Parts: sequence; C-alpha cells; structure tokens
Amino acid sequence: MIFDTHSHYNDEAFQDDLPAIVRQFPEAGICGAVNVASDLSSIDEVLALAKAYPQFYAALGIHPSDCAPLTESRLLLIQEKLHEPKVVAVGEIGLDYHYDEPDREMQKKWFRRQLRMAQEADLPVIIHSRDAAQDTMQILLEEQGHFSGGVIHCYSYSPEMAEQFVRMGYYIGVGGVVTFKNGRRLKETVQRIPLERIVLETDCPYMAPVPHRGERNSSLYLPLVAREIAQLLQIQEEEVIRVTYENAKRLYRLDERKEPAAENGEPSTDEDMGVHLR
Ligand code: NI
Repeated sequence: MIFDTHSHYNDEAFQDDLPAIVRQFPEAGICGAVNVASDLSSIDEVLALAKAYPQFYAALGIHPSDCAPLTESRLLLIQEKLHEPKVVAVGEIGLDYHYDEPDREMQKKWFRRQLRMAQEADLPVIIHSRDAAQDTMQILLEEQGHFSGGVIHCYSYSPEMAEQFVRMGYYIGVGGVVTFKNGRRLKETVQRIPLERIVLETDCPYMAPVPHRGERNSSLYLPLVAREIAQLLQIQEEEVIRVTYENAKRLYRLDERKEPAAENGEPSTDEDMGVHLR
C-alpha cells in the first residue's frame, strides 16, 4: 500500500471530482494521504477534509511564502488545533528564497517559531526549502533541541546534503520530479540514501510524474514514482512500496493513531509488513 505523505486536496483543482478520485484510491493501491496546509485559510480546509474522509490526515503550518500575515495570536490559534485527532505534523514550514518574498528575516523568524511549536506539540515537521539550503540546514542544526523529526519535502538539493539531513534524522520526500529527464540530481539522491529514509509524496495538484508531467497530479499517479525508484535501485516495485509505506507510518506515527482506511472499510492488516520494520 502507498501512503501519500504530502498532498493538497483542498486545492480548487479538486473541487469538482475529489470524491471520485478518493474512490479510485484502492485500485491504485493508495491507502491514505496527508493534506498539508500552507496559508491561514487552508488550515481549516485540511482539517475539514480529515474529518470528511477516513483516508485523509492533516498537517498544519504556514508556508514561508505565505508567512507575512502571521501574528503571534494567529499562530496560537493554529497551535490549539494541533491537538485535533487527525493532525499528524506541523507543515509546511521552511524557507523559500526562490521568490524571496516576504524578506528572509521574516521567513526565518516564523520558521524557527513553527519549529518550536512542533516541538511543544511533539509533532514531526514538513520542511519546504527552496534555494535556501544553507540557511535551512543552519536553522535546523541550531533548533535541534526543538526536534521531533520530520521530512524534507520535494527534496531538490544535492545527494551529499541529503545524506546530512538523513544523519540528522530526517526523511527525504520524493515525488514526480524523480521521473523527469532533468531530475538527475534527485535520481542520484535516491541511489545515495537508504530506502528506509525515503517517503513518497505527490505535492498534488503539482508535480505530476512522467508521462503526465504538466497535468493535474493526484495520489493515483504515485505508483509511477515507486516504479522509477525501483528501476533506479534495481529492486522490485513492491519492495519500494512496502518499505516507503513503513517509512511513512514511522514518520507520522500512524500506528499510534487509527490505521488509514483499507479497501471495503475492512480494518487493514499488515502484520506481514511489520516483519520488515527495522
Ligand atoms: Ni506542498
């Protein structure tokens, strides 16, 4: 089974046919997904989706590019909601110097503040980091006392840096980019780090894998990402799916919660998978 560790089904791209997509999850081998908030308005949207669908969990946080309207009191409102039953992480938070807006000092301030919020709530973090490798690494090192684990989502840096994040205890989020012709660096990263540190993600509606590149993405395309990773590692696709599913469960501590809904509403049994837990 495949668990999508990063999606945005609250996006308007899904407003017409979300129930139909979720109905197709079982035949594509998808058991669940985390909808990740990015701005103030999406906080309640992802919570509502988690209530409406047994397959969905929620991550609450403010994306660096959307942190300008944040205030301490607004953040406290988010903090209260972290205790709702299906909230599994704080995110997406981080630094984005690609757009460089709002200014870097403001981005850093709210990144640190949300890292500490995650620590207080004892939740892992979902890190968005673009064109900001050094500052991201430095802040994560400085804030290690405030550390509940997490994932570097949509990983885009060097294989060497990935090894460093892995040594710090992070998972590396791999999605459609790994199938792109110009995704060479991510392919190398996948070959360099242990499979036990890779989680599958869509970032849908964005980042659809080849041959759907440029189209609307969804979790239904994740088997294409698993297949590409299997080819890169020269192992069976089933092994990639099995190991990354265990990784996702460890990352978000899903076993401490209700299992993602299985086919036909049957409780899922994955004793066979437990054997391979390291
Ligand atoms: Ni995202």
